[in-house]
Amino acid sequence: MRASFREAFGMEGQAEGRAPARVNLIGDHTDYAEGFCLPMPLRRETRVTMARAGSFEARSDGHPAASFDPSGPPRGGWTDYVAGPLAELTKTGIEVPPVAVLVTSDIPQGAGISSSAALEVAVLRAALALTGASLRDAEVARMAQAAENNYCGVNCGILDQMASAAGRPGEALLLDCRTGEGRLVAVPPSFRFRVVHCGEARRLADGAYNERRRAVEEAAALLGIAALRDAVPSDVEALPPSVRRRARHVVTENMRVVSAVAALEAQDVAGFGRAMSESHRSLAEDYEVSTPALDRLVTAMLAEGAAGARLTGAGFGGCAVALLPPELDSDLWWKRVSADNPAAWLVAD
Ligand code: GLA
Repeated sequence: MRASFREAFGMEGQAEGRAPARVNLIGDHTDYAEGFCLPMPLRRETRVTMARAGSFEARSDGHPAASFDPSGPPRGGWTDYVAGPLAELTKTGIEVPPVAVLVTSDIPQGAGISSSAALEVAVLRAALALTGASLRDAEVARMAQAAENNYCGVNCGILDQMASAAGRPGEALLLDCRTGEGRLVAVPPSFRFRVVHCGEARRLADGAYNERRRAVEEAAALLGIAALRDAVPSDVEALPPSVRRRARHVVTENMRVVSAVAALEAQDVAGFGRAMSESHRSLAEDYEVSTPALDRLVTAMLAEGAAGARLTGAGFGGCAVALLPPELDSDLWWKRVSADNPAAWLVAD
């Protein structure tokens, strides 16, 4: 890392920040309804090295060097994910001097495993290390989310940034997106998750994502509640057809997170798996964020013996996650799943 920084900028790096990708085990499209989700960090990560420099400049593998300006408007490119977090830091009174920034990462982009949140969190951590300031993980997450909302134009919730900032390896993080609090839940060795990319990058989905969010907010307004977190299944059936299915997904998904956590704590692989598969059905049918490639992959995962499987993250392409029962031969399982889905590849196990 040190050598590559020297090679890129002809000077020594002065501070480093790292942040992992995440898989969301269950609880998608609930965070912006103040609901629950259950992410877990993956062993893939983004590293950011910084040093004071004459001007703001960033490099990343796969991207040409680019100058940027956190005090100016977004430029519509990848450096917005560097500039945005630095702009948010400045708003809180932490002045960041002009810096050279090197980004390296083994997180695939557009896969639904939070490459952008990992970059934002790693940038904040490097800048904090450089300036000698410190912030709690939850504050780092909120700042990273604000950068994505205000600077990158994606009206996302807090799931990805909290998972990347406050998650711990080998543990799931039960997030209450109303209070912003997280509770770590140990993942026993009998719970073997596999994260698989369906082979199709997430399509330009920001518009559809923001549209889903608007429907959920409209449903809450029609019910006269602050957020769908407060709704129960019978409320949903009274809603107009335009928002009913979207609201039904959110309300039932929150209930599935709660039951999945109980199954995790009871070491009940079958129970956790059932909640995952129901979640996929709800995301596909009520929320309509799955794709034919994701559905095919999830079907094959289940047909070859997974206890549960679902798309993970926003949907519209990217990854699915499967839970394998302890007795299943995972190599054979993957061989058969990939035979049915030749474009799919294993992202994490
Ligand atoms: C994206 C967003 C998150 C969350 C998920 C869906 O990853 O960034 O805030 O809404 O989609 O659960």
